[in-house]
Amino acid sequence: MRPEEGIVDGGTLILIDGEGFMSGTVVTLGGFRCESVKILSSRQLTCVTPKHEVGWVNVQITRPDFVKAILISGFQFVPRPAPVITSLHAAGSTKAEGPETGGQVLIFLGQHFVEEAEARLDGMKCISSYLISPSELECVTPAHAPSVVDALLTNPDGQTTSLSKAYTYVKVVKPPPAIMKVYVKGTVDSTTGPAKGGQELVIEGKDFQTGAVALLDKNQCSTTTVVSSTEISCITPAHAQGVVRVTVTNPDTQMAFLENAYTYFLDPSFKSIDAYVLPKCVKCHVKDYFKGSYASYDDIINGGHVVKGDPTQSKMYLRVSDPNAPMPPASDPALSQEEVRAIYDWILGGAQNN
Ligand code: HEC
Repeated sequence: MRPEEGIVDGGTLILIDGEGFMSGTVVTLGGFRCESVKILSSRQLTCVTPKHEVGWVNVQITRPDFVKAILISGFQFVPRPAPVITSLHAAGSTKAEGPETGGQVLIFLGQHFVEEAEARLDGMKCISSYLISPSELECVTPAHAPSVVDALLTNPDGQTTSLSKAYTYVKVVKPPPAIMKVYVKGTVDSTTGPAKGGQELVIEGKDFQTGAVALLDKNQCSTTTVVSSTEISCITPAHAQGVVRVTVTNPDTQMAFLENAYTYFLDPSFKSIDAYVLPKCVKCHVKDYFKGSYASYDDIINGGHVVKGDPTQSKMYLRVSDPNAPMPPASDPALSQEEVRAIYDWILGGAQNN
């Protein structure tokens, strides 16, 4: 078994060597199911550890024919390590500086951040702290007099980390920008567009300065044009499907943002499907493994799962839309209706490599 230990939060990928493994084999650690079991061969499998409290646990393997094997104290759950802050930067910028008035979206980079971790600048709580991943946390800065300040982060278990002189509050003289409305150019109030990007958005507001930068979530607009102090034009960057925030940052670091301002939908092009759907298949359907590879366009077409122009004859569509034998299998998160629809439309449109 490798590795023989992992943290209490789970999520550690472990490899188990043995004999007689078969499809449908269940693995438990201290009675909790090890997730995403993948049988690599009859002698080797991998799975992802569940959450568990600190301590050694037995590893039990149960086959569908109820034959069991137990490894006593085979795995140890260890405490979560203390968090570490490595650097900070403002959203959409590489700089760790922002306005004395606060209200800037600031990203903390580091390790071992957890849900409900609390971030501070010079002892003052961020207006909001939001965990993006164990290595990334978003803080909306509190106001503070111009100076260089320390950053601090505390996990809910009390473990703490700090980074000295991590962020600079700068003096501002101009008024902060504000966003009033975002819409697709040429429409009255449409706020949706394709995941591949390339759509022109109008951002209406006030006090935009020349040189301002616009972002959709973390991605910079492919082009930002400040038309006037009240209007910015943004060509949308590619982005995963979903609802995003629009941010405008003036050169003096003052920032405005509007939550839920724009929605990316999944367009039925191979590019979108490749970027957003196939990673959920390739996990299992890799080259020379399982029934058909989803690793590339050619693999999919040559694998015979797609009949160009006819989704109802295409195994790929039939299985992702089959409630009784869905793909991905029930052990994995299901595709959204929108993703299934994009596969349908892509195949109907001739399954082009577009
Ligand atoms: C957790 C692993 C896993 C994931 C993720 C997964 N599959 Fe599968 N898939 C399998 C297994 C195992 C089989 C063979 C057993 C079966 O048909 O149910 C299979 C079978 C299939 C088949 C039938 C092939 C045939 O020859 O009949 C299709 C089509 C398919 N998968 C498509 C997909 C697509 C598309 C995705 C992503 C949206 C996906 N799968 C995600 C494991 C997976």
